[in-house]
Amino acid sequence: MSTDNPTNTLQLLPKQCRPYLDLLAQSLTNYLYLGGKNTVLDYATISRKTYDDFKWKICEEAIPHTLLHQSQLCNIESCIVSVVRDGVAGDIIEAGVWRGGAAIYMRAVLSVLGVTDRNVWLADTFEGIPKSTRYTDTEDPVDAWEDRWSASVDQVRTTFARYGMLDKQVMFLKGPFSETLNPCPTGALSVVRLDGDAYESTRDAIEALYPCIQPGGYIIVDDWHLDSCRRAILEYREKHGIEEKIVGLVAGNKNVPREAFWRIKR
Ligand SMILES: C[S@@+](CC[C@H](N)C(=O)[O-])C[C@H]1O[C@@H](n2cnc3c(N)ncnc32)[C@H](O)[C@@H]1O
Repeated sequence: MSTDNPTNTLQLLPKQCRPYLDLLAQSLTNYLYLGGKNTVLDYATISRKTYDDFKWKICEEAIPHTLLHQSQLCNIESCIVSVVRDGVAGDIIEAGVWRGGAAIYMRAVLSVLGVTDRNVWLADTFEGIPKSTRYTDTEDPVDAWEDRWSASVDQVRTTFARYGMLDKQVMFLKGPFSETLNPCPTGALSVVRLDGDAYESTRDAIEALYPCIQPGGYIIVDDWHLDSCRRAILEYREKHGIEEKIVGLVAGNKNVPREAFWRIKR
């Protein structure tokens, strides 16, 4: 039976895949190497100083391949299993990939499911979050971030290859979303993950990608805890009369979940 919440779909994966996917998640997040922390963001919840120490003193090789919490990777997995199980057509995309870890996990899930007719798309400037250009009514606090979360396309390709995941089902879209996703080159989509942080980035990505999501597909919004991102999503939902229930995931500050998603009505 299908439900809006995909979290009960995991048992549909072949049982022998579990140790591989768990180990992959632990490697991508650096859980294996960072003393049992789930994610780099766990350091932020301890204290600002711990986070700064982590962020600026860690050597390049030890920087995680994804910022995501393991439960967020699990949510990606659940959504993909759900659309494959329910025959919802379409590719999978992450808009905002940084070092590529979440997208590697997407490709790995397709691989263990034996899916060969869906692509994973990676859309990013591969030069970091661009500053706002057209958003003038309120400042976007993301513009003040020192770290623009930049990783080059060569670096991401190399990381994909190191995990054995670089193949013809992986597609790179390099440039700002306002250009690479306009018009949207992907065709039908079943799972869309937005992780561009900023207001404009989130707005540009949802405007381009949402119309491609097939009924029964999912949209995942990583930066729900950021006011500017949340605002872009809520404005889009209001403009298009979208009423599907938003599900929050991973505790954030002030009781606002870090991530949110919903399933498009079938
Ligand atoms: C926080 S990081 C993404 C983290 C990543 N999903 C992970 O698994 O760790 C944000 C990414 O979004 C990209 N980005 C933000 N706004 C963008 C835009 N308007 N166009 C293209 N890329 C953008 C940045 O270059 C950066 O790689």
